Amino acid sequence: MDKFIIESSRNLSGDINVSGAKNAILPVMAACLLAPGKSILRNVPGLIDLKTMAHLLRVIGARVEYGDGFMSIDSKDVCYPEAPYELVSKMRASIYVLGPLLARLGTAKVSFPGGCAIGTRPVDLHLKALEALGAKIDIEQGYINAQAKRLKGADIHFEKSSVGATINTLMAAVYAKGTSRLFNAAMEPEVDSTIDFLNKMGAKITGQGSTTLTVQGVDDLFPIQSDMIPDRIEAGTFLIAGALSTSPVRVCGCKPEHLTALIEKLREAGCELQIEGANITVNPPKKIKPCNILTLPHPGFPTDLQAQFTVLMCLANGVSLVEDTVFPDRFMHVAELNRLQADIKMERNIATIKGVNQLGGAEVMATDLRASAALVLAGMVAEGTTVVSRIYHIDRGYDRIEEKLSGIGAKIRREQG
Ligand code: UD1
Repeated sequence: MDKFIIESSRNLSGDINVSGAKNAILPVMAACLLAPGKSILRNVPGLIDLKTMAHLLRVIGARVEYGDGFMSIDSKDVCYPEAPYELVSKMRASIYVLGPLLARLGTAKVSFPGGCAIGTRPVDLHLKALEALGAKIDIEQGYINAQAKRLKGADIHFEKSSVGATINTLMAAVYAKGTSRLFNAAMEPEVDSTIDFLNKMGAKITGQGSTTLTVQGVDDLFPIQSDMIPDRIEAGTFLIAGALSTSPVRVCGCKPEHLTALIEKLREAGCELQIEGANITVNPPKKIKPCNILTLPHPGFPTDLQAQFTVLMCLANGVSLVEDTVFPDRFMHVAELNRLQADIKMERNIATIKGVNQLGGAEVMATDLRASAALVLAGMVAEGTTVVSRIYHIDRGYDRIEEKLSGIGAKIRREQG
């Protein structure tokens, strides 16, 4: 298994580019199943999760080419509506094929996703919404079996804001007969970009940017070519790297409007940020100020940046509190950060972080995608050498992170094992 060997490197500077957003690409890959023919996605980075999704689409019968920066998906011959356990267990987002397969073929069999390192992650909201659209759902031997001759438009009230359930429901409702209305829908930029993609294919979805979405069912959708949005979580990770540095870093090719909650917190921490079009320059403070973080659905502070921001607070001049209301158990990184001499105490899903002057290098283990990014950031500011093992987690969602960070002065190298 590969490892990162990281030496203390706080004097970062220069430009770092943001890649296409994994969490926006995964749903549109599934959406390609809805329109028979060849769709082309551009600005697609090289990520393990996208390879896993490409594999799943091939198993279902699509022809997928995944090249340098692009992906083409030909779903003309999609005929095998099954997502097997071996793929769904690798990546929960495989559940995204459920809505499109049901809508296009009237049947879908998708392995039930299990829990994962960031806590229990049920799919009840996805299933309730599909049932409301008229699907018959049975759970058998660990598989979700969904059937519907033709889905029917309905009003769906989500008990909780869910990115995945909102997107899956939209992808099913586009072919439903009549009108569907989704209440308390998620507003994350990845939901927005999926709506743009579906509408470009010929769907009729309105209400974008609000929590109420209306879908007028259509009979046909058409393949398209489309550019993928930049990854706000990768951009946010690099902004936090800049905040931890001793000189300015410019994060290029992002959408600042997707990062408002983080930008506000970085300013509260004492950073100066300059936004020029798609580029954000972060000027680090002399002393990092402590901040309290409460993760919330968009436009609140994103849970996917909680672990990385926690690293910044480890070096703040005072005490910070961090609570994750989206995934309350998402604190696996805390024990690893404490191995790097952070001072974090957990009490009832709230992390109390007492800032220290210096972290110290050690061997640590990546536990999930965003926690791994946090450990890389911590390794870059820790005195001495940090070894981060199990970095396959980071390869799931960050495109060549060690090359990108080396480009702005980080001392990080991959050791293949
Ligand atoms: C997506 C992102 C993930 C991010 C999360 C929240 C992808 C591939 N993943 O995950 O990186 O951390 O949004 O921004 O885009 N829930 C239920 N029942 C359900 C579905 C969700 O109770 O059927 C709960 C979850 O346990 C969680 C909350 O709803 O507490 C939000 O989860 P959700 O927005 O669905 O996350 P994902 O779409 O799985």
